[in-house]
Amino acid sequence: MHPAAPSPAPRGLHRLAYGGDYNPEQWPEEVWSEDVALMREAGVTMVSVGIFSWARLEPRDGEYDFGWLDRILAMLHEAGIRVDLATPTVVPPAWFYRAHPEALPVSREGVRWEFGSRGAICHSSPAYQEAAARITRALAERYAGHPALAMWHVHNEYGVPVLECYCETSAAHFRRWLHARHGTLDRLNEAWGTAFWGQAYGDWEEIQPPRLTPTTANPAQRLDFARFADDSALENFRRERDLLHALSPGVPVTTNFMVSPTQCDTIDYWKWGREVDIVTNDHYLVAEDDRNHVNLSMAADLTRSVAGGRPWLLLEHSTSGVNWQPRGIAKRPGEMARNSLAHVARGSEGAMFFQWRASRAGAEKFHSAMLPHAGTDSRIWREVTELGRGLEALAPVRGTRTVADAAVVWDWESWWAQKLEWRPSEDLDARERAEAHYAALFDRHLTVDFVHPEGDLTGYPLVVVPALYLATAAAGANLRAFAEAGGTVVVSYFSGIVDAYDAVHPGPHPGVLRELLGLTVEEFQPLRSGESVRLTGPDGAELTADTWAETVTARGAEPVWLYADGPAAGRPAITRHRLGEGTAWYVSARLGTSGLDTVLAAASADAGLPGRDHLPHDLELVRRSGERGEYLFAINHADTDAKIPLPAPGTELLTGETTGGPLVVPAGAVRVVALEH
Ligand code: GAL
Repeated sequence: MHPAAPSPAPRGLHRLAYGGDYNPEQWPEEVWSEDVALMREAGVTMVSVGIFSWARLEPRDGEYDFGWLDRILAMLHEAGIRVDLATPTVVPPAWFYRAHPEALPVSREGVRWEFGSRGAICHSSPAYQEAAARITRALAERYAGHPALAMWHVHNEYGVPVLECYCETSAAHFRRWLHARHGTLDRLNEAWGTAFWGQAYGDWEEIQPPRLTPTTANPAQRLDFARFADDSALENFRRERDLLHALSPGVPVTTNFMVSPTQCDTIDYWKWGREVDIVTNDHYLVAEDDRNHVNLSMAADLTRSVAGGRPWLLLEHSTSGVNWQPRGIAKRPGEMARNSLAHVARGSEGAMFFQWRASRAGAEKFHSAMLPHAGTDSRIWREVTELGRGLEALAPVRGTRTVADAAVVWDWESWWAQKLEWRPSEDLDARERAEAHYAALFDRHLTVDFVHPEGDLTGYPLVVVPALYLATAAAGANLRAFAEAGGTVVVSYFSGIVDAYDAVHPGPHPGVLRELLGLTVEEFQPLRSGESVRLTGPDGAELTADTWAETVTARGAEPVWLYADGPAAGRPAITRHRLGEGTAWYVSARLGTSGLDTVLAAASADAGLPGRDHLPHDLELVRRSGERGEYLFAINHADTDAKIPLPAPGTELLTGETTGGPLVVPAGAVRVVALEH
């Protein structure tokens, strides 16, 4: 975090945040008073204003129009609604691009994107950087002391819809970045393995971004370019943040993340999480997935982890369907509240939406909103006002922290590396493995923190490594030290293979994880599409796997499951290695749901984790705890009522009922119990 960081909570907000993106510039001013009155009716406490307003704020170069923003901020302030005020730097105005067409980004194929949607930015463009700094400064100078100002919202979702730019300005910037990273050309040539295919560089000016090449480009060059692109956006964020800190001291600065790898995969949020005063996130359901609440929980846990366990804020989700998925499936009654409160359970200090009022025009008019086209006589509006009341009742949870049972290792860099071309199987999918392991832990009612591979693992009984293709020696040592000190680790296949530049670690696979796992992998055995293999285990039990198998040699590890058929028949498939005080499991094949559950049950037993088999399926149970109290969130995603034991009597905050015995959570409902201790 920034050294002079303001306190990590929206200034002047003493309740949970509830509201959404508010775009008053899309509406005649007559509508604004109705907006504000309805916000009060809904229990709105904060709105995000001005995210896409640059053209309205600076209609011509250097000519500002702040009158409308003054008026709406005054109205919001009078109504007691706090403002998350944006710098509008995600969409420079048309006049800017006319003067600076070179600030439009260029694709890998060499095509320049045009103005007319949003987010068309070359992050290396000096003209963009100067113009962004000017509008940021103008806003900060005018509104730093505004009584409605709760926090600054820089830009919008860095990383999407386009991050990488391959223009000449970016190329020169990339070379400067490489120089700072590698120091000498010799080191760069070594790291990139340029001896292969005769790619050695003799002069920095010879190096280009990995533009379109006849066949696969150098993977290390691509990986460094992905890092560079991420850093170039981060430099622009820092520039705005530092200006805001200087001109508007004490007001926290955020930029809305999209940590879910289903939505944005170009940003290394481990890095960005340290740069913002408050971590905020946007999350949208994968609407057609019938268990999309699991993906939601994963995104929320990942966001909290990126925030270092501190409270964070859900800045956008949807009240119902969205316009940008193949089908804008509407949420079922109660689903919006379950979604919002699941984020709160996992650390969010509120629930905000895109957007307040459904637009009439433009690309997103078929996106749901808090105030839908149907108006207030609608299911969505009734649920929105009910949720507002619920969040008001949940104010006591503010500042408490979600309690995790286990950790999952996740690394964006590793994922970038694994996604490059020419891997042993195109079916290898790091995100799919992370999601499958997360779902298996969710179904065992375990709350998960995510950790960087080199991050602090102290205190977790169980650490799961679903897919860590790129792993540094430090990551290997970290996991090994954790196990030796008594922890339990589960590692899935194709992990520990390459270093930070996509070069295979010396010696047999799995490189830096060999000692932890007590085995070597002689050969990868990718399976044919549709092929599966059988595994036999303790007491003759059977599991099946598909996609991937390996020829494993145990070197200290105990083979627990063997391949019964397929290319590695007779060899160890799942192993367990005792080292120091702890245990490391290895899974060399792609297991389905029940196989993963079997392995995680065994590893959980090693880790001494409580069995929670008595809890109903799809009953999400999460605890937030702090000095002022302990809160149990029970979210019933199933269509039958659930009954669960309570560790202590308490008061249910949404209904106000006191409860001592088992808690009944009706089908589709949420209960939050303040436990007495
Ligand atoms: C977000 C974006 C919003 C809106 C929303 C629609 O990614 O920040 O501006 O476009 O998606 O779901």
